[in-house]
Parts: sequence; C-alpha cells; structure tokens
Amino acid sequence: MNAKSELDLNNIPKHVAIIMDGNGRWAKERKLPRVMGHKVGTESVKIIVKAAKELGISVLTLYAFSTENWKRPSMEVQALMTLLKTYLKSELSDMLQNNISLRCIGQMEKLPGDVQEILVQVINETANLSGMSSGLILNLALSYGGREEITMAAKAVAEQCIRGEISTGDISEELFSSQLYTAGLPDPDLVIRTGGESRLSNFLLWQASYAEIYITETKWPDFRKGNLIEAIKDFQERERRYGKTSEQVKEN
Ligand code: IPE
Ligand code: IPE
Ligand code: MG
Repeated sequence: MNAKSELDLNNIPKHVAIIMDGNGRWAKERKLPRVMGHKVGTESVKIIVKAAKELGISVLTLYAFSTENWKRPSMEVQALMTLLKTYLKSELSDMLQNNISLRCIGQMEKLPGDVQEILVQVINETANLSGMSSGLILNLALSYGGREEITMAAKAVAEQCIRGEISTGDISEELFSSQLYTAGLPDPDLVIRTGGESRLSNFLLWQASYAEIYITETKWPDFRKGNLIEAIKDFQERERRYGKTSEQVKEN
C-alpha cells in the first residue's frame, strides 16, 4: 500500500486543495440517505487533516460548501451546517494540540449565526499557531465560489481607485491577489477531486492557474491517507513547466 516512504520528502506540495465530492453517490450505492455520505465524509476530513500534517503539507484547502450548494434541498443544507458545527466543536482541542490553524474562504456572513460563531471562535483561538513552523493551515472553503471571489476583489480594487488611493496603473496580479479570500496563502500546487468528475465547479479559479490536477474515482467518504499519498506520488512524477520547454526546465 502507499506509504510515506515512497514519497520524495523534498517535493511535497506546499498547498493541497481538495474538492471533496461523491458523498451522495457513496450513500446511494449503500441505499443510505445522502446525509449519511456527508457524515462519513467528516471522518475522511479528520483523517486527511491528520495525514496532511504528517506528510508536511503547509496548507490544506477543503472545498466543503460552494455558493451553488445553497440550491440543494434545505434539509441537506441544514444537515451539512450541523455537521460543520459538530466538526468544529469536536476538533478545536485537537487543532490546538497539533498546531493546526483554521482559516475560512468564502461568504462567511451567509452561514447560519451559530456556525459563524463557532467558526470565528476556532479561527481566533488557533490564529497565533499559524506562524510556527511545522504547523498546518486548514483552510475551509464555505459558501465559496471562485467567480464570487473575483467579483468581490474587483469591487474592492475599484473602490480603492474611486477613493484615489491607487490608480488603474497600480493594479497588478499581486494587488488583485491581495483582495482575494486567499490573500497571504500560496497558490495550490495540487488540486485533488474525488468522485471522478473532471471539472472545477467554481473552485479557486484564479489561484489554480498552474495547479496540477488529480482526479480519482474514489468517493470522498472512502478517501484515506493512502489515497492522498497516491495523489502526491502522481504529482511528484509531473514536470511543472510554467510555459517553458522541458529542456529549459531541466537546465535549472
Ligand atoms: C460533496 O458530495 C459534498 C458537497 C458538495 C457538499 P456530493 O453531495 O456532491 O456528492 P455527489 O456528487 O452527489 O455524489
Ligand atoms: C463541488 O461539488 C463542491 C464541493 C465539493 C463543496 P458539487 O457536487 O457541488 O459539484 P457539481 O455540482 O457536481 O459540479
Ligand atoms: Mg457532487
């Protein structure tokens, strides 16, 4: 089975982002309600957070709820919010103990009040851990949509222009990035999608411009440390060219 020893520890992706998909289909296969898929999926979250830390990943972004997911039946949305709240409550002490710092990207203000409350509490209590080496930033994408994020950043930059703080000539990729939810975080090196679909579903549209993409048929409730190692192994076999020729890459 896939073990850490099979990895090149000098080439671990700094930022791994995961589209945690396939919960509903996992449940359907077992003739269980969709919500059961989400529930078992939170076990995968716990296992993968721990594994990411052990493997030396610095930032783990998990796509937990998209701006489009609000269109789901309200029962399912409610169940997801309850699971999120339970997860945050149960993991706070573990995060503190293991130097895991929580961050959130997305429209936090759209989440139910009680979820926001615990989210802010965990973010604040784990905030000062992030500076330490060997720590992990766990970045939850909640009510997140890449287009919404880019639109929000465009508005913020436009307002700076209107106020006369900057001129249009000052607008650079760096300035624009600093207005995104991910400000200060490195771009993802590896984007994993479970559940087999080959699409981004509005995830990190700006940030994933040069990410390596790995798609696995494994559904999120079945995703384990070995699957993460497999994805990183695949990543390590890729040549990241950033537009250059293979020869140029090898010269450096
Ligand atoms: C991902 O699993 C979880 C969320 C989007 C919240 P799905 O619920 O989308 O599972 P499938 O794609 O229907 O199997
Ligand atoms: C993407 O999964 C969003 C999350 C995993 C949170 P979806 O199941 O919502 O994506 P689509 O609808 O199949 O594109
Ligand atoms: Mg899905």
